[in-house]
Amino acid sequence: MSHLVRFSISLEEALLQKFDHHINEQKYKNRSEAIRDLIREKLVKKEWAENEKVAGTITLVYSHHKRGLVQKLTSLQHDYHHMIISTQHIHLDHDNCMEVIITHGKARSLEQLADKLKTVKGIKYGNLAMATYGRELI
Ligand code: NI
Repeated sequence: MSHLVRFSISLEEALLQKFDHHINEQKYKNRSEAIRDLIREKLVKKEWAENEKVAGTITLVYSHHKRGLVQKLTSLQHDYHHMIISTQHIHLDHDNCMEVIITHGKARSLEQLADKLKTVKGIKYGNLAMATYGRELI
């Protein structure tokens, strides 16, 4: 089990004020909690940069009336079936759909899949949210 270590940080007062303003907006209880999250965020970004095995979600918004679009999305997801854990389809309104694809695998492959899906003709919004297996995090 890891134990807590205290350390002090020196930084410019103006920068600290900006940080405190930011963490107040984010509703952090204290600076330690905010700094822990910054470190975790950096470590997750590093996992992605180093092409580690990661997890993530791809969100797509599109109109299902667009000719050929649904077939193309399905075909692409079958090409990457080994990386897709689950796909949820939500009918947002009469025309628009949202699809949330939960994926895992090598970071580059996830980015490649997300890029292919996002650039399908007719996609109104596409986003890849980086996540992690959490093994390196505490
Ligand atoms: Ni739909």
